Amino acid sequence: MIELKSAGEISAMREAGRVVAGVHAAVRAQAAVGVSLRELDQVARTVIHEGGAGSSFLGYHPSFGATPYPGVICTSVNGVMLHGLPTPYRLRDGDLLSVDCAVHVDGWHADGTVSFVVGAARAEDLDLIRVADATLAAGIAAAVPGARMGDVGHAMSAVGRGAGYGMQNDFGGHGIGREMHESPFVPNEGRKGRGLWLRPGLVIAIEPSLIAGGGDDYHMASDGWSVCTGDGSRSAHVEHTVAITQDGPVILTVP
Ligand code: MF3
Ligand code: CO
Repeated sequence: MIELKSAGEISAMREAGRVVAGVHAAVRAQAAVGVSLRELDQVARTVIHEGGAGSSFLGYHPSFGATPYPGVICTSVNGVMLHGLPTPYRLRDGDLLSVDCAVHVDGWHADGTVSFVVGAARAEDLDLIRVADATLAAGIAAAVPGARMGDVGHAMSAVGRGAGYGMQNDFGGHGIGREMHESPFVPNEGRKGRGLWLRPGLVIAIEPSLIAGGGDDYHMASDGWSVCTGDGSRSAHVEHTVAITQDGPVILTVP
């Protein structure tokens, strides 16, 4: 079932989105060479607590994870594309880090991801991140009333694949509201003019991930959570929670 949200419900989700943006800002500020992923998870816990929110990740146990999720953020480094665990790994100069976080406030969830480089960045990594951000922006721009879900994925793959990067469509976006993961599925790639009609009140997390090497393969690591690029090349993952309104798409995961 797909639940449309009222303006009041979207405002409630906006508060959760503000906390998510606060987590991204704090983790980005603290992420430096020598800092561990576990320490960044602690930073995120503090921001979530002080924001009067709860973590949507902690203890979450979806079919694609081996155990209940042990942290409040996913920290995916370099060739880890999605769901990297906040381990004692200490960041190194030039690491490409994606920070995924969802929280709930008054029972309403918001979910967002940012990617950035720690320390001195390689030009190719900055290109990958810039295109990932542009891919997400294109998906958001396509999420207007009267468009269809396939238009969103089509807009994203045109940018990501157009720049020569690989993409995968098994882990994509999702409806979000009283639950972090709701219907509908939001594909990273789609066919123009196909799929669900987008209506005001639909709130979705849009979350493309790009693979630098250009191939589409990925595999699950032995930790049962980390989704890694098949060729070992780096990946950038970005995500916003977006409300489709009469006035167009409104991004909820911003300060
Ligand atoms: N944004 C990711 C997703 O929607 C978060 C995964 S939640 C986790 O798939 F807790 F399972 F990691
Ligand atoms: Co998500």
